[in-house]
Amino acid sequence: MSAPHPSSPYDFIAIGLGPFNLGLACLTEPIDDLNGLFLDERASFDWHPGMMLESSHLQVPFMADLVTLADPTSPFSFLNYLKESGRIYSFYIRENFYPLRAEFNDYCRWAAGRLGTVRFSHHVSDVEYDEHEELYTVHAEHDGERRTFRARKLVLGTGTPPYLPDACRDLGGDLLHNSDYLDAKAALQAKESITLVGSGQSAAEIYFDLLTDIDTHGYHLTWATRSPRFFPLEYTKLTLEMTSPEYVDYFHALPPATRDRLNAAQKHLYKGIDSALINDIFDLLYQKNLGGPVPTRLLTNTALHTARYDEATGTYTLGLRQEEQGTDFTLDTQGLVLATGYRYRVPDFLTPVRDRIAWDDAGRYDVARNYSIDTTGHGIFVQNAELHTHGFVTPDLGMAAYRNACIVRELLGREYYPVEKAIAFQEFAAPAGPHHPTEISA
Ligand SMILES: Cc1cc2nc3c(=O)[nH]c(=O)nc-3n(C[C@H](O)[C@H](O)[C@H](O)COP(=O)(O)OP(=O)(O)OC[C@H]3O[C@@H](n4cnc5c(N)ncnc54)[C@H](O)[C@@H]3O)c2cc1C
Ligand SMILES: NC(=O)c1ccc[n+]([C@@H]2O[C@H](COP(=O)([O-])OP(=O)(O)OC[C@H]3O[C@@H](n4cnc5c(N)ncnc54)[C@H](OP(=O)(O)O)[C@@H]3O)[C@@H](O)[C@H]2O)c1
Repeated sequence: MSAPHPSSPYDFIAIGLGPFNLGLACLTEPIDDLNGLFLDERASFDWHPGMMLESSHLQVPFMADLVTLADPTSPFSFLNYLKESGRIYSFYIRENFYPLRAEFNDYCRWAAGRLGTVRFSHHVSDVEYDEHEELYTVHAEHDGERRTFRARKLVLGTGTPPYLPDACRDLGGDLLHNSDYLDAKAALQAKESITLVGSGQSAAEIYFDLLTDIDTHGYHLTWATRSPRFFPLEYTKLTLEMTSPEYVDYFHALPPATRDRLNAAQKHLYKGIDSALINDIFDLLYQKNLGGPVPTRLLTNTALHTARYDEATGTYTLGLRQEEQGTDFTLDTQGLVLATGYRYRVPDFLTPVRDRIAWDDAGRYDVARNYSIDTTGHGIFVQNAELHTHGFVTPDLGMAAYRNACIVRELLGREYYPVEKAIAFQEFAAPAGPHHPTEISA
């Protein structure tokens, strides 16, 4: 990507540099006639630092890196990173498709360091639209200074912030969301009791970590989940075919109420626990139990409804309900870890351009199939904000290159990276058009 004249606007500005916009930065880098700028408030790329547990790994294979599924020849591939880091043979001998999470973070930092278009330590505070010039004006704070950039289009990639249940907001004490786990771990392990709420992948990784050290520190560890069971992330191949362009087409065309119902019913496709980790947890419980009862409790069907904090004793009292029995009970705990997920939030900086955005009846972006959210259908694009319109693949790193290839096509006005239309053996919608005699007809 060539740099524009200092006074000329960018073709687009991308706000937020998580893996999704970083992939866009890598994919637009070789495109001479597309000038983009990427802004992030962090001092440097850092992917979920509070969850950088040593042995944790990606839930998608290395081919789902920043670029490969759009452009396998890109110099920004994970394999090129391994080659340049001198580790390609070790990775080959390891015979494991899943990079370590720390390794993926290092790879992203490596890629960010090779891009001239990214600017860290830039907190975007507000965005305006100049009707006359037909340009977005992006204001960012950088080292106490206000900087202004102009662009024809925007790509929002601000991620999904940690979500805390209402009962735990402004509660006081040192409760934490799992996103702060590593920084808080030492203080947490000094407590007599720890309760972990939630049973997604984050909760399971933390439970395993805390269970491993339970003998050394002697705390009592409770793991409570609202789900009826500690369910695995489904990873069978015909289901994986749903991470496909045609499933997104199908999902997007469904009525909003059906889409909402499906999202609630499809948790096991994007929120469950890695099945190997479930087994590791069981095996660790089994091993530890050989030495006598383990001071831990696993509670399913248990939702957190209320919470209070007693500052004098440093104790939380949680109001829990066994949902199937309808039985309420309380639990006292000193340490509280809320692994209660992440939820998209409309960034405050969009307030001045709210009128330019298409909203649905529930006050969410009405995201068009091409990932645009503005009323023109080609001015503001989103990454990872379209769960309700594009389905469970929205946060999936494995579909990032596809979405970025689509967004590049919209930004450029032509297809630069071939955009797959259908990859699955199965069909999701009722068959349409003429059929062979042996096929089902509607
Ligand atoms: C621990 C963890 C592990 C995961 N592992 C996987 C996995 O293995 N496979 C998978 O498919 N998915 C995984 N996910 C899900 C998902 O892919 C990731 O959460 C991913 O980081 C989402 O990327 P993103 O680009 O949307 O946002 P983020 O990574 O959250 O990045 C958003 C960026 O926006 C910046 N920002 C926000 N507001 C502003 C502003 N006003 N101005 C400037 N910058 C701003 C932030 O600083 C941040 O850097 C994981 C999620 C978690 C929590
Ligand atoms: N290794 C990895 O690569 C990795 C690691 C971490 C995360 N991730 C991904 O990142 C995403 C987020 O994962 P996550 O584990 O952080 O969050 P998550 O999957 O959204 O799980 C949140 C958990 O909190 C529970 N919860 C929310 N409110 C509750 C309440 N009031 N009472 C009791 N339980 C409550 C939810 O229960 P319900 O199900 O009942 O709502 C759910 O079990 C997922 O897509 C995941 O796959 C990947």
